[in-house]
Amino acid sequence: MEVMPHGLIRRLAGARYVTALTGSGISAESGVPTFRDAQTGLWAQYKPEDLATPEAFARDPELVWDWYAWRRGLIAQAQPNAGHHALVVLAHCIPGFTLVTQNVDGLHQRAGSTDVIEFHGNIGRTRCSRESLLVEETMPATDDAGRRCPRCGAWLRPDVVWFGEAIPTTALETAFAAAKRSDVFLSIGTSWQVYPAASLAELAQAAGACVIEVNPRPTPHSHFASYLLNGPAGVMLPALTSALTRAGAAREPR
Ligand code: OAD
Repeated sequence: MEVMPHGLIRRLAGARYVTALTGSGISAESGVPTFRDAQTGLWAQYKPEDLATPEAFARDPELVWDWYAWRRGLIAQAQPNAGHHALVVLAHCIPGFTLVTQNVDGLHQRAGSTDVIEFHGNIGRTRCSRESLLVEETMPATDDAGRRCPRCGAWLRPDVVWFGEAIPTTALETAFAAAKRSDVFLSIGTSWQVYPAASLAELAQAAGACVIEVNPRPTPHSHFASYLLNGPAGVMLPALTSALTRAGAAREPR
Protein backbone atom coordinates (compact mmCIF):
# COMPACT_ATOMS: atom_id res chain seq x y z
CA MET A 1 0.00 0.00 0.00
CA GLU A 2 1.41 3.39 -1.04
CA VAL A 3 1.89 5.89 1.78
CA MET A 4 0.54 9.34 0.94
CA PRO A 5 2.28 12.47 2.29
CA HIS A 6 0.30 14.00 5.20
CA GLY A 7 0.59 17.50 3.77
CA LEU A 8 -1.01 16.40 0.54
CA ILE A 9 -3.95 14.72 2.26
CA ARG A 10 -4.42 17.81 4.47
CA ARG A 11 -4.53 20.06 1.39
CA LEU A 12 -7.02 17.79 -0.36
CA ALA A 13 -9.21 17.30 2.71
CA GLY A 14 -9.42 21.07 3.19
CA ALA A 15 -9.95 21.90 -0.49
CA ARG A 16 -13.18 23.42 -1.72
CA TYR A 17 -12.28 23.29 -5.39
CA VAL A 18 -10.26 20.52 -6.98
CA THR A 19 -9.62 20.07 -10.69
CA ALA A 20 -8.24 16.86 -12.17
CA LEU A 21 -6.83 16.80 -15.69
CA THR A 22 -6.31 13.35 -17.15
CA GLY A 23 -4.32 12.21 -20.18
CA SER A 24 -3.99 8.91 -21.93
CA GLY A 25 -1.83 7.49 -19.10
CA ILE A 26 -4.92 6.90 -16.96
CA SER A 27 -6.29 4.49 -19.57
CA ALA A 28 -2.99 2.63 -20.05
CA GLU A 29 -3.91 0.09 -17.36
CA SER A 30 -7.18 -0.54 -19.23
CA GLY A 31 -5.14 -1.68 -22.23
CA VAL A 32 -5.58 1.49 -24.32
CA PRO A 33 -2.10 2.53 -25.52
CA THR A 34 -1.01 6.04 -24.51
CA PHE A 35 -1.01 8.62 -27.26
CA ARG A 36 2.72 8.66 -27.82
CA ASP A 37 3.41 4.98 -27.15
CA ALA A 38 4.74 3.14 -30.15
CA GLN A 39 1.88 2.05 -32.37
CA THR A 40 1.63 -1.65 -32.95
CA GLY A 41 0.97 -4.01 -35.83
CA LEU A 42 -0.21 -2.41 -39.06
CA TRP A 43 -0.02 1.05 -37.54
CA ALA A 44 3.59 0.84 -36.34
CA GLN A 45 4.80 2.85 -39.36
CA TYR A 46 2.59 5.86 -38.56
CA LYS A 47 2.89 8.48 -35.83
CA PRO A 48 -0.42 9.52 -34.22
CA GLU A 49 0.58 13.15 -34.79
CA ASP A 50 0.55 12.40 -38.53
CA LEU A 51 -2.92 10.82 -38.52
CA ALA A 52 -4.86 13.06 -36.12
CA THR A 53 -4.78 16.16 -38.33
CA PRO A 54 -7.18 17.85 -40.75
CA GLU A 55 -4.42 17.65 -43.39
CA ALA A 56 -4.11 13.86 -43.03
CA PHE A 57 -7.90 13.53 -43.33
CA ALA A 58 -8.02 15.76 -46.42
CA ARG A 59 -5.19 13.73 -47.99
CA ASP A 60 -6.42 10.24 -47.15
CA PRO A 61 -9.73 10.03 -45.26
CA GLU A 62 -9.90 6.24 -45.58
CA LEU A 63 -6.53 5.80 -43.87
CA VAL A 64 -7.53 8.11 -41.01
CA TRP A 65 -10.90 6.32 -40.66
CA ASP A 66 -9.18 2.91 -40.62
CA TRP A 67 -6.95 4.13 -37.80
CA TYR A 68 -9.94 5.39 -35.81
CA ALA A 69 -11.82 2.14 -36.44
CA TRP A 70 -8.81 0.28 -34.97
CA ARG A 71 -8.69 2.58 -31.94
CA ARG A 72 -12.45 2.29 -31.43
CA GLY A 73 -12.05 -1.50 -31.42
CA LEU A 74 -9.40 -1.28 -28.69
CA ILE A 75 -11.57 1.01 -26.60
CA ALA A 76 -14.67 -1.17 -27.02
CA GLN A 77 -12.76 -4.08 -25.46
CA ALA A 78 -11.36 -1.96 -22.60
CA GLN A 79 -12.88 -1.56 -19.14
CA PRO A 80 -12.39 1.40 -16.78
CA ASN A 81 -9.64 0.68 -14.24
CA ALA A 82 -9.05 1.46 -10.56
CA GLY A 83 -7.77 4.96 -11.49
CA HIS A 84 -11.00 5.89 -13.28
CA HIS A 85 -13.05 4.49 -10.37
CA ALA A 86 -10.99 6.41 -7.78
CA LEU A 87 -11.87 9.68 -9.52
CA VAL A 88 -15.57 8.86 -9.09
CA VAL A 89 -14.90 8.48 -5.35
CA LEU A 90 -12.92 11.73 -5.28
CA ALA A 91 -15.84 13.59 -6.85
CA HIS A 92 -17.98 12.39 -3.94
CA CYS A 93 -15.39 13.59 -1.39
CA ILE A 94 -14.83 17.11 -2.76
CA PRO A 95 -17.74 19.52 -3.16
CA GLY A 96 -16.25 21.53 -6.04
CA PHE A 97 -14.68 18.77 -8.10
CA THR A 98 -14.13 19.18 -11.85
CA LEU A 99 -12.82 16.46 -14.12
CA VAL A 100 -11.21 17.54 -17.40
CA THR A 101 -9.93 14.86 -19.76
CA GLN A 102 -7.82 14.98 -22.89
CA ASN A 103 -8.91 11.41 -23.59
CA VAL A 104 -11.44 10.59 -26.24
CA ASP A 105 -12.17 7.07 -24.95
CA GLY A 106 -15.21 7.74 -22.72
CA LEU A 107 -13.82 5.48 -19.95
CA HIS A 108 -14.40 8.10 -17.22
CA GLN A 109 -18.10 8.16 -18.03
CA ARG A 110 -18.23 4.36 -18.16
CA ALA A 111 -16.68 4.30 -14.67
CA GLY A 112 -19.50 6.58 -13.45
CA SER A 113 -17.96 10.08 -13.62
CA THR A 114 -20.48 12.75 -14.52
CA ASP A 115 -20.06 16.25 -16.01
CA VAL A 116 -16.74 15.26 -17.57
CA ILE A 117 -15.21 18.09 -19.60
CA GLU A 118 -14.01 16.48 -22.82
CA PHE A 119 -11.23 18.74 -24.01
CA HIS A 120 -10.48 16.75 -27.16
CA GLY A 121 -13.95 15.33 -27.93
CA ASN A 122 -15.05 11.71 -27.94
CA ILE A 123 -14.14 8.99 -30.41
CA GLY A 124 -17.57 7.38 -29.91
CA ARG A 125 -19.35 10.31 -31.60
CA THR A 126 -19.38 11.05 -35.30
CA ARG A 127 -20.10 14.27 -37.14
CA CYS A 128 -20.33 15.53 -40.68
CA SER A 129 -17.03 16.99 -41.86
CA ARG A 130 -18.87 19.61 -43.92
CA GLU A 131 -21.69 20.80 -41.63
CA SER A 132 -20.32 19.63 -38.27
CA LEU A 133 -23.72 18.17 -37.30
CA LEU A 134 -23.56 15.11 -35.06
CA VAL A 135 -24.75 11.99 -36.86
CA GLU A 136 -26.23 8.83 -35.37
CA GLU A 137 -24.26 5.98 -36.90
CA THR A 138 -26.61 3.46 -38.43
CA MET A 139 -23.96 1.50 -40.30
CA PRO A 140 -20.52 0.44 -39.08
CA ALA A 141 -17.97 3.11 -39.93
CA THR A 142 -15.75 0.38 -41.31
CA ASP A 143 -17.10 0.59 -44.87
CA ASP A 144 -17.50 3.49 -47.24
CA ALA A 145 -21.28 3.89 -46.87
CA GLY A 146 -21.00 4.09 -43.08
CA ARG A 147 -18.43 6.87 -43.44
CA ARG A 148 -20.62 9.21 -45.48
CA CYS A 149 -23.10 11.76 -44.13
CA PRO A 150 -26.66 10.50 -44.70
CA ARG A 151 -27.81 14.14 -45.27
CA CYS A 152 -25.22 15.54 -47.66
CA GLY A 153 -22.89 12.68 -48.64
CA ALA A 154 -19.74 14.41 -47.30
CA TRP A 155 -17.24 12.38 -45.30
CA LEU A 156 -18.17 11.77 -41.71
CA ARG A 157 -15.41 12.18 -39.13
CA PRO A 158 -14.95 11.30 -35.46
CA ASP A 159 -16.04 14.11 -33.12
CA VAL A 160 -12.53 14.64 -31.79
CA VAL A 161 -10.18 17.61 -31.81
CA TRP A 162 -7.31 17.19 -34.24
CA PHE A 163 -3.94 18.92 -34.06
CA GLY A 164 -4.36 22.51 -35.16
CA GLU A 165 -8.13 22.57 -34.43
CA ALA A 166 -9.82 24.66 -31.77
CA ILE A 167 -10.93 23.22 -28.43
CA PRO A 168 -14.76 23.35 -28.11
CA THR A 169 -15.53 26.76 -26.57
CA THR A 170 -17.61 25.55 -23.61
CA ALA A 171 -15.01 22.93 -22.66
CA LEU A 172 -12.24 25.51 -22.87
CA GLU A 173 -14.03 28.16 -20.82
CA THR A 174 -15.32 25.76 -18.15
CA ALA A 175 -11.91 24.08 -17.74
CA PHE A 176 -10.03 27.38 -17.47
CA ALA A 177 -12.51 28.75 -14.92
CA ALA A 178 -12.18 25.53 -12.86
CA ALA A 179 -8.37 25.59 -13.02
CA LYS A 180 -8.24 29.22 -11.92
CA ARG A 181 -10.35 28.71 -8.80
CA SER A 182 -8.72 25.39 -7.79
CA ASP A 183 -7.22 24.86 -4.36
CA VAL A 184 -5.70 21.62 -5.63
CA PHE A 185 -4.94 20.63 -9.22
CA LEU A 186 -4.26 17.00 -10.11
CA SER A 187 -2.36 16.22 -13.29
CA ILE A 188 -2.81 12.54 -14.08
CA GLY A 189 -1.15 10.49 -16.84
CA THR A 190 -0.36 13.31 -19.22
CA SER A 191 2.94 14.25 -20.83
CA TRP A 192 2.09 17.96 -21.05
CA GLN A 193 3.04 18.22 -24.68
CA VAL A 194 -0.18 19.67 -26.02
CA TYR A 195 -1.46 23.17 -25.38
CA PRO A 196 -3.84 24.62 -24.31
CA ALA A 197 -4.50 21.61 -22.04
CA ALA A 198 -0.98 21.85 -20.62
CA SER A 199 -1.53 25.48 -19.62
CA LEU A 200 -4.31 24.49 -17.19
CA ALA A 201 -1.79 23.37 -14.52
CA GLU A 202 0.34 26.47 -15.09
CA LEU A 203 -2.72 28.67 -14.63
CA ALA A 204 -3.83 26.80 -11.49
CA GLN A 205 -0.35 26.99 -9.98
CA ALA A 206 -0.03 30.70 -10.77
CA ALA A 207 -3.39 31.25 -9.02
CA GLY A 208 -2.08 29.52 -5.88
CA ALA A 209 -3.24 25.91 -6.31
CA CYS A 210 -1.27 23.00 -4.95
CA VAL A 211 -0.37 20.87 -8.01
CA ILE A 212 -0.13 17.09 -7.68
CA GLU A 213 1.29 15.03 -10.54
CA VAL A 214 0.46 11.34 -10.90
CA ASN A 215 2.76 9.70 -13.44
CA PRO A 216 5.28 6.83 -13.34
CA ARG A 217 7.75 9.04 -15.24
CA PRO A 218 8.85 12.66 -14.85
CA THR A 219 7.30 15.16 -17.27
CA PRO A 220 8.36 18.61 -18.50
CA HIS A 221 5.94 20.03 -15.91
CA SER A 222 7.03 18.03 -12.88
CA HIS A 223 8.71 21.14 -11.46
CA PHE A 224 5.26 22.78 -11.22
CA ALA A 225 4.09 20.09 -8.83
CA SER A 226 4.16 20.39 -5.05
CA TYR A 227 3.73 16.61 -4.86
CA LEU A 228 4.86 13.93 -7.30
CA LEU A 229 3.11 10.58 -7.04
CA ASN A 230 5.49 8.47 -9.12
CA GLY A 231 3.47 5.44 -10.04
CA PRO A 232 0.59 4.19 -12.15
CA ALA A 233 -2.72 6.01 -11.74
CA GLY A 234 -4.47 2.69 -11.03
CA VAL A 235 -2.34 2.36 -7.87
CA MET A 236 -1.77 5.97 -6.82
CA LEU A 237 -5.34 7.27 -7.13
CA PRO A 238 -7.01 4.51 -5.06
CA ALA A 239 -4.26 5.02 -2.43
CA LEU A 240 -5.05 8.74 -2.44
CA THR A 241 -8.80 8.27 -2.02
CA SER A 242 -8.28 5.65 0.72
CA ALA A 243 -6.02 8.02 2.65
CA LEU A 244 -8.57 10.81 2.19
CA THR A 245 -11.37 8.60 3.45
CA ARG A 246 -9.28 7.50 6.44
CA ALA A 247 -8.62 11.16 7.20
CA GLY A 248 -12.40 11.55 7.54
CA ALA A 249 -12.72 13.72 4.48
CA ALA A 250 -15.30 11.56 2.77
CA ARG A 251 -18.58 13.38 2.66
CA GLU A 252 -21.97 12.06 1.72
CA PRO A 253 -22.25 11.55 -2.03
CA ARG A 254 -23.60 14.68 -3.69
P1 OAD B 1 0.97 11.00 -23.97
O1 OAD B 1 1.05 9.67 -24.67
O2 OAD B 1 1.72 12.15 -24.52
O3 OAD B 1 1.43 10.84 -22.45
C1 OAD B 1 0.97 9.80 -21.63
C2 OAD B 1 1.57 10.00 -20.25
O4 OAD B 1 1.02 9.00 -19.41
C3 OAD B 1 3.10 9.86 -20.17
O5 OAD B 1 3.63 10.95 -19.43
C4 OAD B 1 3.30 8.54 -19.42
O6 OAD B 1 4.47 8.57 -18.59
C5 OAD B 1 2.06 8.50 -18.57
N1 OAD B 1 1.63 7.15 -18.14
C6 OAD B 1 1.84 5.96 -18.74
N2 OAD B 1 1.26 4.95 -18.05
C7 OAD B 1 0.67 5.54 -16.96
C8 OAD B 1 -0.10 5.04 -15.87
N3 OAD B 1 -0.40 3.74 -15.73
N4 OAD B 1 -0.58 5.94 -14.95
C9 OAD B 1 -0.30 7.26 -15.07
N5 OAD B 1 0.42 7.78 -16.09
C10 OAD B 1 0.89 6.93 -17.02
O7 OAD B 1 -0.58 11.32 -23.88
P2 OAD B 1 -1.35 12.64 -23.45
O8 OAD B 1 -0.55 13.48 -22.50
O9 OAD B 1 -2.71 12.23 -23.04
O10 OAD B 1 -4.43 15.29 -28.31
O11 OAD B 1 -1.47 13.40 -24.79
C11 OAD B 1 -2.20 14.59 -24.75
C12 OAD B 1 -2.80 14.85 -26.04
O12 OAD B 1 -1.77 14.74 -27.01
C13 OAD B 1 -3.83 13.84 -26.50
O13 OAD B 1 -5.10 14.12 -26.02
C14 OAD B 1 -3.78 14.06 -27.97
C15 OAD B 1 -2.30 14.24 -28.18
O14 OAD B 1 -2.03 15.24 -29.01
C16 OAD B 1 -5.01 15.39 -29.51
O15 OAD B 1 -5.20 14.42 -30.20
C17 OAD B 1 -5.42 16.78 -29.87
